[in-house]
Amino acid sequence: SENAGNRPPAVAASSKDPVPTSAAKRKSETPAPGSEVGAKPAKRPSRPTPPAPVVSSAAAAKAAAARQTPQPRVPVQPPPAALVRSATFPSRPGVGDLEAQIDVANEELMTLTEANEGLQQRLEAEKLLYTKELDELRSALQAEKAAREAEARAHQETKQVLSEAQAESERRATELRAQKTELEARCAALTATESELRQNKAVLEATVAARELDLETLAARGRAAEELRREMHETISELKGNIRVFCRVRPQVGAAAERSLVRIPSGQLEPMALDLVGPGGAEEGGATAAKGAPRKVDTQRFKFDRVFGEGASQAEIFHEVSQLTQSALDGYKVCIFAYGQTGSGKTFTMEGLRGDYDKRGVVPRAAEQMFTTAAELKLIGWTYEFSASFLEIYNDELRDLLPAGAEAKGKASVPAKLDIKHAGGEVHVPNLRSVPVTDAEQLSRLMDAATRVRATSATKMNEHSSRSHYIFRMRLVGKNSKTGAETDGELNLVDLAGSERTKDSGVTGDAMKEASAINLSLTSLGSVISAIAAKSAHVPFRDSKLTHFLQTALSGSSKTLMFVNVSPSEKHHQESLSSLRFAAKVNNTETGKAEKKGKAAAGGAH
Ligand SMILES: Nc1ncnc2c1ncn2[C@@H]1O[C@H](COP(=O)(O)OP(=O)(O)O)[C@@H](O)[C@H]1O
Ligand SMILES: [Mg+2]
Repeated sequence: SENAGNRPPAVAASSKDPVPTSAAKRKSETPAPGSEVGAKPAKRPSRPTPPAPVVSSAAAAKAAAARQTPQPRVPVQPPPAALVRSATFPSRPGVGDLEAQIDVANEELMTLTEANEGLQQRLEAEKLLYTKELDELRSALQAEKAAREAEARAHQETKQVLSEAQAESERRATELRAQKTELEARCAALTATESELRQNKAVLEATVAARELDLETLAARGRAAEELRREMHETISELKGNIRVFCRVRPQVGAAAERSLVRIPSGQLEPMALDLVGPGGAEEGGATAAKGAPRKVDTQRFKFDRVFGEGASQAEIFHEVSQLTQSALDGYKVCIFAYGQTGSGKTFTMEGLRGDYDKRGVVPRAAEQMFTTAAELKLIGWTYEFSASFLEIYNDELRDLLPAGAEAKGKASVPAKLDIKHAGGEVHVPNLRSVPVTDAEQLSRLMDAATRVRATSATKMNEHSSRSHYIFRMRLVGKNSKTGAETDGELNLVDLAGSERTKDSGVTGDAMKEASAINLSLTSLGSVISAIAAKSAHVPFRDSKLTHFLQTALSGSSKTLMFVNVSPSEKHHQESLSSLRFAAKVNNTETGKAEKKGKAAAGGAH
């Protein structure tokens, strides 16, 4: 080891180094500079120190032996050369030699002791070193051991984790195998379903082909049925007459409600008669009157094509009207009037309540019917083109309620006066705008526009509307691509001005003019209808703008319906009576056979 290498060879040095002479030794007691041993105080040991057990030098043993048995003559090993030289010094030869020997031995002993001490120290140092080294090694070993143990633990943990992972993956594998099996089963099922579906599809395709054939047959039958319906409608019209009158009694509402003057005889599913009790007769009660003949002298009975009581709904009304509006699609000219005093329900019947779907009147319902029926008739080859006009007649003047730009919101200009012209035996109004319409919603927007225009020409809308006639006209032109048939129908829905007579004889100016214009046109309407019904040679169409405008629509080949609207209240008795009389007169007229305009279908039924 390094320590061993560094260790000085103390023993060998002591035996090889020249032993100092006794003189030198003595001299050395007063140390001389440069003396080798003089560096340390050469002290004679008072007592010979027993040699350390570790020192086993031969010189030490000899020295010990010499101390125990000091025999002068005892032959000792030959003295070293120095000793021999000193022996030649003249002194007391025996003692001197011994003393010298003792000195030498002592010197040797001291040297040895010193060496021993050095060795001891070195030994201690080395021991310390080794101990330290050992401690270091031990702690290193412990650290190593701890590291190994930690490593082992880590390994153990890793092993645990790995075995868990393995278990998990085995579980997943099992799961996946199960899923695979399931999917395979499903796949097989789907394949089976697919082939089943293919079979079904084939069957269905065959069925569809068969159905398509059926559909063709049905469409042909539908056309035949449609022809039959039209024929039957014509027959019914012939039987009923082409001028029909319906009476509608408006309900009394609110606090103003009083006993009704109107009795509708019971026992009829579709009432056709009405009794108007005289003033003051309301207290008589409806029950007796309803039994049959009116008892009071001033109670009068009127007969109409239909009578609608106070409870009749808008839907019921339209149900009765729909046959007629339908015939406009068949190519007829149709006119529906609402006649009656102001407040009797004309506008309610024709237009209905805006914004209340159930209470919408004949105009919006007829429009809906046109579009719905046209869509149905399309299936059997019909295509229709609709166009609408709105106008009013005020003070015997015609005004377009739908002038160009009327649909745009904002202040509309007061409509211009229109003239009625004759061309080719037909009446027509140049400049009366006719707007093509494709659906009920568009038509409803046009109605709103017409209402706005109408309002601009009047400061008091309600008064104005009761003093003018309002006409909605729709033209319906149809063509059948399968049969080649064509139709050209027209629907005129007219909300007439109030029929009330102006009682105040003092009325002058505008009011007088208005009243006489209304009176003239309504009287003229009655006369025209009567003349048509009587097949009179002369029909006074030109007596009023109203009848003139409606000439074509009212002539013998048309269908006319008049609603007479009456109020059942006592205070309106006189007006109700006069309305009912007017309507009864119109109703009792016989009319000619209606003809529809248009080209008959090839091989048509009529
Ligand atoms: N059959 C009815 N059912 C409910 N309310 C009605 C009926 N007829 C008329 N009215 C109401 O009576 C009032 C006057 O009717 P309206 O149609 O304006 O009369 P006209 O147009 O003949 O002057 C309106 O408020 C209307 O809503
Ligand atoms: Mg009105």
